[in-house]
Amino acid sequence: MAFVKVAEVGEISPGGSKIFLHNRRELAIFNCEDGFYCIDNSCPHQAGPLNEGILQGEIVMCPWHAWQVNIRTGEVLYFPNMCVKTFQCKEEEDGIYVEG
Ligand code: FES
Repeated sequence: MAFVKVAEVGEISPGGSKIFLHNRRELAIFNCEDGFYCIDNSCPHQAGPLNEGILQGEIVMCPWHAWQVNIRTGEVLYFPNMCVKTFQCKEEEDGIYVEG
């Protein structure tokens, strides 16, 4: 699997995020307590920008109507039939990479 570099080491502060375009989709990568996680940045409810939500552990709360998304699994809490696409991440010496 090919990976593309999306951030420099140290660029995304702990608890922070960065958005970027990837294959014409806006993705968000989060610096979580135990690593980096990348998801589609569009909330499955009404497309709210998940990167602008509050991150607690591995749960981000959408800023529009407070749906909660697990950024590790993509699951939407309380709505088991909904999910957000996730993308594999890896941290290398020269940057943070997401699956291409
Ligand atoms: S758009 Fe995210 S909760 Fe409504």
